Amino acid sequence: MRILSLILATASAMLLYPEQVHISWTENEGEMRVTWVTFYPISSVVSYRPILCNSPALWTYLDGSFTEFDQGDTLEIIQYINTAVIKDLDPSCFYEYSVGNYVFWSEIFLFNGRTADYSEPFDTTEVNLIVLGDWGTGDLGKYTLNLLGEEAKLRDFDAVLHIGDIAYDLNDQEGEIGNIWLNMVEHIAGNYAYMTNPGNHESPNNFTHYSNRFKMPINEANQGTSWFYSFDYGPAHFVMIDTEVYFFNSAEVIENQLNWLKADLEKANKNRGIRPWLIVLGHRALYCSINNLVPVSQINPACGSQATLLKNKLEDLMYTNGVDVFFQAHLHNYERDAPVYKNLTVPSEFDGENIHIGAKAPIYITNGNAGNVEAHNPVSPTPQEWSRFLSNDYGYGRLSIFNNTHLYYEQFSSELLECIDYVWLIKTQNSYNS
Ligand SMILES: *[C@@H]1O[C@H](CO)[C@@H](O)[C@H](O)[C@H]1NC(C)=O
Ligand SMILES: *[C@@H]1O[C@H](CO)[C@@H](O)[C@H](O)[C@H]1NC(C)=O
Ligand SMILES: *[C@@H]1O[C@H](CO)[C@@H](O)[C@H](O)[C@H]1NC(C)=O
Repeated sequence: MRILSLILATASAMLLYPEQVHISWTENEGEMRVTWVTFYPISSVVSYRPILCNSPALWTYLDGSFTEFDQGDTLEIIQYINTAVIKDLDPSCFYEYSVGNYVFWSEIFLFNGRTADYSEPFDTTEVNLIVLGDWGTGDLGKYTLNLLGEEAKLRDFDAVLHIGDIAYDLNDQEGEIGNIWLNMVEHIAGNYAYMTNPGNHESPNNFTHYSNRFKMPINEANQGTSWFYSFDYGPAHFVMIDTEVYFFNSAEVIENQLNWLKADLEKANKNRGIRPWLIVLGHRALYCSINNLVPVSQINPACGSQATLLKNKLEDLMYTNGVDVFFQAHLHNYERDAPVYKNLTVPSEFDGENIHIGAKAPIYITNGNAGNVEAHNPVSPTPQEWSRFLSNDYGYGRLSIFNNTHLYYEQFSSELLECIDYVWLIKTQNSYNS
């Protein structure tokens, strides 16, 4: 009898215990959305308070709301995805928070009150963001988990940008892999805005796992799918796009994003006096080195036919709008390219090994090697002329935009535990193309 009640208590605690806590910026300034999962439909709250600033450190209790999500593929397994949006954040504060139902509480997480920033007075001071892609569970996911987990303790970055391919896969093993991965990264994604866009691994059932588990800024065109959106932060405008529509969706869906993207880039371009940096991130690559010693028909499609398709659709938009950096993933390696347009290196006012002053085309950085069960993709033994650095070490990058003129990016090897590459971009005008 005692054993039975113990089992029941443990089982219900497991159902009630909040898990998979993660946070993201919204379409409004001064807001943080908190998302978490329970396996029992119970109303729960976020309790939070400002710290390390002039506001009184009093706890506020904010009601969450949940939606039912069937994580199973062949089985019906319902999880309850809870969210709540904390508003009116003071950028000079940090915030502690915990989610729970007054019986079971999560651990206490901490985030910075500085959020995506859409209105005056604009805060265009230095920003630091982690950029990574293609991150899964298991032993190979641990390299980046360990290094980034340590870096997260130092609080030397503001947010994480995950460019698609999440968990390998969110829906695998009846959705269990998604749960395991979200719990695995909770100490990062619960403490920093964790901004995502979809990759090909999110495609099953029209990206349902992705759209339900990740809540990104909402706009009229994305209708809350989290597939594509943009935000302003520091001296930059960031655009998260969905390259997967070109491979999995209808012409109508493609057109919908494209119209939005054109308008978004044009608007950002007009705003360059305030935010001169324009950064675009999408899962699949437009540029990655192919081995030009093998016949074109045998070339890895990701850098061959698929890259060509995406270039035809997107490259001119990037170039004419003066995009500075295009981050991509999908390839399980790291490659940094020089400014390039139509397959030709475009000389800057000055180019060095690790520096471009007055660049005149986007630089493309492939960063799809956070680590996952599919392991590495070898780098090309014969890189293209525009390729500047290649590595297949598991790792991630850190983007620092210091001010209106200086951008610095460095790539870490999570295997060697060191920085393996860096690049400076220095502007001589707000945009090379406006
Ligand atoms: C997939 O989702 C998108 C976005 O919600 C929607 O526009 C599209 O019609 C869906 N496609 C299918 C085949 O259901
Ligand atoms: C790009 O140029 C290189 C060198 O001229 C060539 O080998 C390669 O096939 C070209 N790639 C494409 C996609 O045109
Ligand atoms: C911009 O940042 C760089 C790197 O920190 C610094 O050297 C430079 O002086 C800064 N420029 C301005 C105008 O503050």
